[in-house]
Amino acid sequence: MKQLSRLRLLASILTCITVAFAQTTVPVFGQCGGQVYTGSTTCAAGSVCVVQNPFYSQCVPGSGTVSATGTKTATTTTVSTPTATPSGFVKTSGIHFTLAGKPFSVVGANSYWVGLMNYGVADMNTAFADIAATGATVVRTWGFNEVTQPDGVAFYQSWSGSTPTVNLGATGLENFDNVVAAAKANGLRLIVTLTNNWYSIFESIQQAGTYFILNLQRSDYGGMDVYVNQLLGNGSPHDFFYTNATVIAAYKNYVHTFVSRYVNEPGILAWELANEPRCQGSTSATSGTCTNPTITNWAAELSAYIKSIDSNHLVAIGDEGFFNDPGNPIFVYQGSLGIDFDANLNISTLDFGTFHDSWDEPANPFGTTWISDHAASMLATNKPVIMEEFGITNDEVDVYGSWYDEILSADLTGDLIWQAGSILSNGPSDPGGAVYPGSAVYVLDTQHAAALRARDGDPVA
Ligand SMILES: *[C@@H]1O[C@H](CO)[C@@H](O)[C@H](O)[C@H]1NC(C)=O
Ligand SMILES: *[C@@H]1O[C@H](CO)[C@@H](O)[C@H](O)[C@H]1NC(C)=O
Repeated sequence: MKQLSRLRLLASILTCITVAFAQTTVPVFGQCGGQVYTGSTTCAAGSVCVVQNPFYSQCVPGSGTVSATGTKTATTTTVSTPTATPSGFVKTSGIHFTLAGKPFSVVGANSYWVGLMNYGVADMNTAFADIAATGATVVRTWGFNEVTQPDGVAFYQSWSGSTPTVNLGATGLENFDNVVAAAKANGLRLIVTLTNNWYSIFESIQQAGTYFILNLQRSDYGGMDVYVNQLLGNGSPHDFFYTNATVIAAYKNYVHTFVSRYVNEPGILAWELANEPRCQGSTSATSGTCTNPTITNWAAELSAYIKSIDSNHLVAIGDEGFFNDPGNPIFVYQGSLGIDFDANLNISTLDFGTFHDSWDEPANPFGTTWISDHAASMLATNKPVIMEEFGITNDEVDVYGSWYDEILSADLTGDLIWQAGSILSNGPSDPGGAVYPGSAVYVLDTQHAAALRARDGDPVA
């Protein structure tokens, strides 16, 4: 805890001192580039300008080179130590994860994009190496992309009317084989999420080295709504995903094909039933009959189904961790969204619980209480609980620092930040909100991973 606070203090002192005598030199952690930026691009001695996103480049400690296109890449002072290739399967013991009977920390990042943006194996390796260099052990990624019309990126299932076909080829599960191999080559294990509550997402498209955000509104990207629309008719209630026998059978078929392929794969840590399941999806179409038990029953059935295929890997829901406390003044505690975190943790075929930061609440003081309340549930059920998605865009170092302090002091099992970013062969992996090597948050994450692994007695490579 103290170590983290000191690091943040040091970073701000360093910034202030450098600002004092730099007119044309940008201080460490200062801005040095970006699409509408007009200031100096020269970083203070001992630091280098790194692209964080198309709109913001930052001076980070280290040395580096400037490419002909003006894109600068850094060789930061962070040292990546090769980690042993994963073998064996991660299990749980009380509130902890274990590997071969020894403590295994779950700390790392999300990267939904690593398997879905046509990256080759070299870029996948760069992406995972950047995450591994923070001391991370785990990456959460998407094991779904439902399409009705293939549109040039990897997809794992395509639909022709009501007939789904799992894509086993090079743009399908063979691509996911590469994702798993690249993660493993960097000593990382994957949490793989098998469908999505959401369908309308902003997607970054990279073309010829220029970056722009294209709101593709890919109704096909998501998951649940594709099943429901293709099988039951367009505009059918989202929550029929959890109850309609035809839909459940189709999802089980996909799960069966995907999970069976990797039953003996140590590079996978866990399967997740869905990203952020709720009664409501991206549109307002609901049946009006979905309540918390609807998703609890579905989660019990689907998790038992996965266990019947694959007894090696852990299973979780992948939900946001809403509590069921009607009357509580805070929305995400009121039990109105279809998730009862404590009831779901009781399901015997679910190995650990997850929660995400909240879109509906301010970062703090909500955040630290949200963490400690989930740590209380963790202790009550004696199962691991991880904060598996959190990503804010203001005052990140201070807010994440306070959350990491709380995770350590409340003894929460682990956490995965949203989300990792890398400078790849054609530029930054993602234009928004990612944690790029050398950034202040990346440095903080590195400190945090070491602190969490030291707490658990998991040797830091
Ligand atoms: C699922 O939806 C189909 C199509 O609307 C319907 O025929 C079937 O009865 C539904 N099944 C259940 C169990 O609700
Ligand atoms: C979870 O299980 C425990 C032990 O059986 C029980 O006391 C508790 O009420 C259950 N919690 C929920 C929310 O169902």
